[in-house]
Amino acid sequence: MRALTATPAGLELRDALRPPEPPPGHVVVRVTAAPIHPGDLAVLRGTTRVGGLEGTGVVEQAGPGTGGLVPGARVAFFPVPGTWAEWVTVPASLAVPVPEGVSDATAALMLCNPLTASLLLRAIAEAGGGPVVQTAARSSVGTLVSALADGVPLVNLVRNEPGDGAISTSDEDWRDRVRDQIGGGARVVLDAVGGSLTADLAELLMDGGTLITYGLLGSGSTPVEALNLVDRGLTVRGVTIRHWLLRTPEERRADVERAVRIAVDHPELLTVAATYDLAEHAEAVAHVGRPGKRGTVLLTHHEGQS
Ligand SMILES: NC(=O)c1ccc[n+]([C@@H]2O[C@H](COP(=O)([O-])OP(=O)(O)OC[C@H]3O[C@@H](n4cnc5c(N)ncnc54)[C@H](OP(=O)(O)O)[C@@H]3O)[C@@H](O)[C@H]2O)c1
Repeated sequence: MRALTATPAGLELRDALRPPEPPPGHVVVRVTAAPIHPGDLAVLRGTTRVGGLEGTGVVEQAGPGTGGLVPGARVAFFPVPGTWAEWVTVPASLAVPVPEGVSDATAALMLCNPLTASLLLRAIAEAGGGPVVQTAARSSVGTLVSALADGVPLVNLVRNEPGDGAISTSDEDWRDRVRDQIGGGARVVLDAVGGSLTADLAELLMDGGTLITYGLLGSGSTPVEALNLVDRGLTVRGVTIRHWLLRTPEERRADVERAVRIAVDHPELLTVAATYDLAEHAEAVAHVGRPGKRGTVLLTHHEGQS
């Protein structure tokens, strides 16, 4: 089978062995689509392994103890290493049945970003709620946060092309315009940009507020001393989807149920930027970092090329 392998020199399409018979509690899935999230590329740098952590496909073989996951069942899965391949072995506990009517493209995006949005919304609630200022508001995750914020006052920042109420940090007066909207300051800043923007973002917080950081799209850096954390009683908190499996089973079940509901009722929130064959990985990776991209890049494979 073909598999997209990360090497220190970059991604390579290699021939790999098809997965063996699935062990107990696992299924072998023929992958139909798998996303390239921006974070996938950062994590893979300098490693040698098949990439991808999320995907969707059809169960081909089910090991003992996999419940209702019979061959032919459509499933989505995350976090499962090695989804940029034609087949992958998936723990049954991480395989989510795809409801009828949900397309492969939507199913491929059904878990990672909605689960991240759930973690971020929980972190916002733990920090006391709104008003919230969020950066990279037109990102896939930012779009989900906006849609799910459920009444939490939210000011959206983008780096260019203001509109739909979003304020562009390229405009000279962006800080004043944010302050006009949030009055006494933001209780939470939700930030995927970081770098040199961090100092400005911390300035927008009310005393006692929380900066939640979950991405590093920007450049430059801000020394922690510049944030005046002590005098202003500010909190800086990192959130990562890599800790999602540490949440309680009840929280995880609720997060997955919400993710499935989004896929069924609001597939427009799980936008595909473009779809590429595994062999077109260079174009696909270039697309991931393209300014103005909307949605997530998907990898797929043409039938009959295994
Ligand atoms: N912590 C976690 O567990 C976790 C999980 C998922 C995602 N993330 C992070 O969340 C961020 C968004 O991910 P995504 O998949 O939603 O992204 P995405 O759909 O690929 O969108 C990227 C967005 O970021 C904007 N952007 C890119 N560089 C920027 C910069 N220097 N300053 C301001 N905005 C910039 C782009 O704006 P333009 O339209 O202007 O190009 C675009 O709207 C990434 O940093 C990702 O690594 C973290």
